[in-house]
Amino acid sequence: MNIAVLASGRGSNFQAIIDGIRDGKIKNSEIVVMITDNREAKAIERARKNNIPVEFVDYREGREAAEIRIKKVLDRYKTDLVVLAGFMRVIKTKELLDRYRNKMINIHPAILPAFKGMHAQRQAFEYGVKVSGCTVHFVDETLDGGPIIEQTCVYIGDCKTAEEVEERILKEEHKLYVKVVGMFAEGKFKVEGRRAEYEKSI
Ligand code: GRF
Repeated sequence: MNIAVLASGRGSNFQAIIDGIRDGKIKNSEIVVMITDNREAKAIERARKNNIPVEFVDYREGREAAEIRIKKVLDRYKTDLVVLAGFMRVIKTKELLDRYRNKMINIHPAILPAFKGMHAQRQAFEYGVKVSGCTVHFVDETLDGGPIIEQTCVYIGDCKTAEEVEERILKEEHKLYVKVVGMFAEGKFKVEGRRAEYEKSI
């Protein structure tokens, strides 16, 4: 399976997937390209260390132009699965969304549909929920609203700060993302309306 990762920053989820392939948790797969919109992203360093090609897309040329370029890069690398790992842009271009429908996934640090958007961990902390977590979902035209693939709950009732919540959830994000990408490598998800159902093929 050819995986493309889109990342804007730290890239710890990207790293988890690199490690997951190395450790055999994600089978028969390769990260063929890492696409970023940020020349300062720490994810670039991680890509270089692992001999993964990096492609930069400049959103200053406009969202649509940048996203058409993303699509071209994905096509060129014969991408089977697009993994958004801390990509700080909301993808809106129809051509890209349609081309990779049900083949593009994102991880969100909350139990969706709660706490959509930015700073989900702080939103959860400030709301005072005792349980939050993370969600892997398909990307569609809505903000953090595509069909849900898998979720992990995390108890945060004893966390003293939003940073503590973030740290606790992040550890589970890494495990969840590796698990879900590994599932894609061994089967497929059939999407019917809001429901994503897994069919193992090997
Ligand atoms: C993660 O918390 C992810 O859920 C969110 O952005 C953060 C990215 O972290 N979408 P990293 O760049 O993977 O370390």
